[in-house]
Parts: sequence; C-alpha cells; structure tokens
Amino acid sequence: GGAALAKDMHKEIENVSHRGASAYAPEHTIVSYDMGEKMHGDFIEVDLQMTKDGHLIAMHDVTLDRTTNGSGSVKDYTLEEIKQLDAGSWFNEKYPYAAKAEYEGLKVPTLEEVFRKFGKNNNYYIETKSPDVYPGMEKELLRLVEKYNINKDRLLVQSFSSQSLQVMNELDPSIKLVQLISYKSNAEITDAEIQKIKEYAMGIGPNHTYLNEGYVQKVVNSGLELHPYTVNDKERMKLLIDWGVTGMFTNHPDLLHEVKKGR
Ligand code: G3P
Ligand code: CA
Repeated sequence: GGAALAKDMHKEIENVSHRGASAYAPEHTIVSYDMGEKMHGDFIEVDLQMTKDGHLIAMHDVTLDRTTNGSGSVKDYTLEEIKQLDAGSWFNEKYPYAAKAEYEGLKVPTLEEVFRKFGKNNNYYIETKSPDVYPGMEKELLRLVEKYNINKDRLLVQSFSSQSLQVMNELDPSIKLVQLISYKSNAEITDAEIQKIKEYAMGIGPNHTYLNEGYVQKVVNSGLELHPYTVNDKERMKLLIDWGVTGMFTNHPDLLHEVKKGR
C-alpha cells in the first residue's frame, strides 16, 4: 500500500556502531571502531571525556575504572598517564567467549587519533559527556573538527545536556546536533518539547526501552530524526524500523545490517 511504499522510499536506516562494534571488541578502541566499519556500521559513535591537560579522549565513563586497569577520574590524569593504561584486558575478563589475545594492552584513543585514522569523510557521531565536568570541551571538539577538516555533513554531535548542544550551536550553527533523552517509563513528548528541541537539534536519541509507535510517529512526523539507543536484538530492530525510526545505535552493527537487508 501507500504507507509501505512511502516507507520503502524513505532514506536508509542509519546504523550507528555504538562505542564501535562493542559487543565484539573493547569499546572505544580503534579495533572496535574498525570492526564497526567492517560490519557495515554507517557511523562511529565516540563518547568524549577530557584529560587533566585538556585532551579529548574516547571513553564512556567519567572514571577509568571499568574500561582500563587504572582508577579514578579522567580529569585527574594527563594524557601521557592515560596512555600507559590497558584498555582491552578488562573485556577479555568480562566476556571470555569474545576474548582475543590481541585485545590485551590496547590503548585509549584520543579524538585526534580517531580523526587521523578514519579521516575527514567518515561519519562520526560524537557525544559530549559530562560537559559540566569539562568546561570548554565543545570548543576543543570544534577546534579538532576544523584542524582535521572533518566533513560537517557527515558529523553529528549528541549530548544528554541541552546546554552543551546549545553551546555547540552558538559556536558553530552548521554542526548537526542530536538531543539524547533517557526515559524511565513510557516515553511521551509534547509538541512544545519537540519545538524547543527543533530550535537547535535535527534529531532525538532516546533509550529504546519505553518507546511506542505513537511516540515514534509524532517525532518523525515533526521532521526530526529519531535514533534510539542501544538496540541489540533483531526482533526489536525490526519493530522499531516498522514504527518509523530513522536509525539506531547498536553494539551489533552486523545484526542491524542483516535486518536492513531483510535477513
Ligand atoms: O549516545 C547514545 C547512547 O550511547 C547514550 O547512552 O550511556 O551509552 O552513552 P550511553
Ligand atoms: Ca554515547
């Protein structure tokens, strides 16, 4: 029918490799990002933290404890100190069925290294994490985007902090922004909330758990992109696509690729 045709004609579902192909390799390592690309991820997702000496690094947590053999806050260590750490062995210990010897001793990448490795025309989906802990992180992100001549058409900046997104928007209105949201129960959004977000962002990234078809339709029909996180099983991927999401974050970009191919 007409609806099915309209859906078929819609542009492709964006496959975002969440922390890289993080089901298969230690999150936020070059190896994980590489694997995400090989598994047909369209975007590399990078969470940002900032070192004591002002370098942006790819890490999810505000502390080193979970994903390295170090401990304490990222902000209390220099890049040189963080570069001594092992960012891979924890994965082998936690996920023995996915463990590989080559993951031992992997390093925490800087954003500069990621840009150098994957180039200016890659698709990046970069999150400003804990912007209140790291004043100036938006400015530093933009400095590196300019330094490496990153193609802004292929860059999305995401944050739970609307303030951080608005800082980005003021520094450079051409940067495309996505407002992250975490729902604790049934997801609902008002027209006023949608209009507010549309003032600075081109999309919303909610947790997928509490979404429903009405929510998805309302957001997408408003003209916003909708990229739920973090979707790791094929049945859920299919349902969300059926509802009308325009992309999603996954630790299994290979599975989303299969779903997109109708497998
Ligand atoms: O950025 C989308 C999703 O990753 C948000 O949650 O905690 O995994 O960064 P988190
Ligand atoms: Ca993230």
